[in-house]
Formats: sequence, C-alpha cells, structure tokens
Amino acid sequence: MSGFFQFLKAGLKNPLQLSTMFETGPKVGRRFARRIEHKVGFYVVEFGVGAGAITLHILPKLGFPPAYIGFELNQDLYKYLVETYPDLEIYNETAENLTKRLDGRKVSALVSTLPWSLLTKETRTNIVKQAYENLEPGGVFCTFLALHVLWTPAARDFLAQIYEVFPEITYEDELLNVPPCRLFFARKH
Ligand SMILES: C[S@@+](CC[C@H](N)C(=O)[O-])C[C@H]1O[C@@H](n2cnc3c(N)ncnc32)[C@H](O)[C@@H]1O
Repeated sequence: MSGFFQFLKAGLKNPLQLSTMFETGPKVGRRFARRIEHKVGFYVVEFGVGAGAITLHILPKLGFPPAYIGFELNQDLYKYLVETYPDLEIYNETAENLTKRLDGRKVSALVSTLPWSLLTKETRTNIVKQAYENLEPGGVFCTFLALHVLWTPAARDFLAQIYEVFPEITYEDELLNVPPCRLFFARKH
C-alpha cells in the first residue's frame, strides 16, 4: 500500500493522533529541506514521521548511511516506515524520548510536523525543551501549524513557548498545502 493510503487509513483510525487524513504536500517538504545544512558528525531529527512525506525531501541531503533519527508514535505507520526505509533509525516512541535516544549525539537540524495543537501542554513543553537543548548552536528547528488552528489557545501557547526559548524565529506561509500552513524556522544562537 502506498504512503498516501497508509496515512489515510491511520488518519481515519486515529484522528486525534495524526490530526489530518492527508500527508503534507511536497512544497512544504522542499521548504523544510532547503533550511537543512547537514554537517559531518551531526544528525538530523524528524518528529512525527508519518508515512515519510517530509523524510523523502530530507534524505537526499544527508549522505549515506543517512545521519537521521525519526520518531513516529503510530504503530501502523511505524511498521510501514520500517519496511520502506530499512536503513533509517526510527523509533516507535514519543518525541519526548529525544535526549534518551540521542545518547550524546549532536543535532544540526530538527524537523517537526507534530500536531502541536493536539498535544498536552506538558508534552509540548518537554519536546520544545529537548529540541532546544539538543540542537547545536546555529542549528535550526523547523515546524509548522495549519493556518486554521493558529489562533487556538493550544497553538498560541505553543508559539509562546518557542518564542520564549529560541532567540530568532522566522516564518513563511505555504498556501498551496492542504491545509494551508505557516512554517516556522527557529534558530539557536
Ligand atoms: C500531521 S502528521 C505529519 C506526518 C508526516 N510527517 C507528514 O508531514 O505528512 C503528525 C504525525 O505525528 C505523529 N505523532 C503524534 N504525536 C507524536 C509524538 N508525541 N511523538 C512522535 N510522533 C507523534 C502522528 O502519529 C502523525 O504521524
């Protein structure tokens, strides 16, 4: 079954975990990938791998074997990922396990398509804190929010969290994605 149908099936079964039934479009994947500057000895981390819609844009930048670590909570999607990308280090765990799984390895970029507005404040806080702590100075944390959730209390709270932690954040809108979304690029000084 293709990634599209795997994701659709998982989204129908677990709408509150995936937040959508449709994978992120290639325009977003390309915009994220453009921000990644891979460096030898450093890893690129992806939170919420899904069926790999963003992964396929990131991988060509990482060399071989890819210095990549992914987290995907959904078990069906995880099984699909392991079959599709046998060479990748992917955990069927919450992104909150980042520090534990890195075990001292350094991170040059972090890409997240997690459904921030559906996570608890505690989970969001844990993930943002670990993302910041594990990024190397100069590293970038790329993420997004659908435009239609931007003004929800949870999304506003998430934005307040990243603006408090990261000294420099830029954003751009991708209106041709379904749903249209705002991409955030937070840099650690
Ligand atoms: C909006 S989907 C994005 C999927 C894919 N990256 C894409 O862009 O099409 C969010 C993904 O995050 C996963 N997820 C949700 N909470 C998570 C968590 N705490 N840790 C890791 N993955 C999580 C969901 O299972 C889902 O696959």
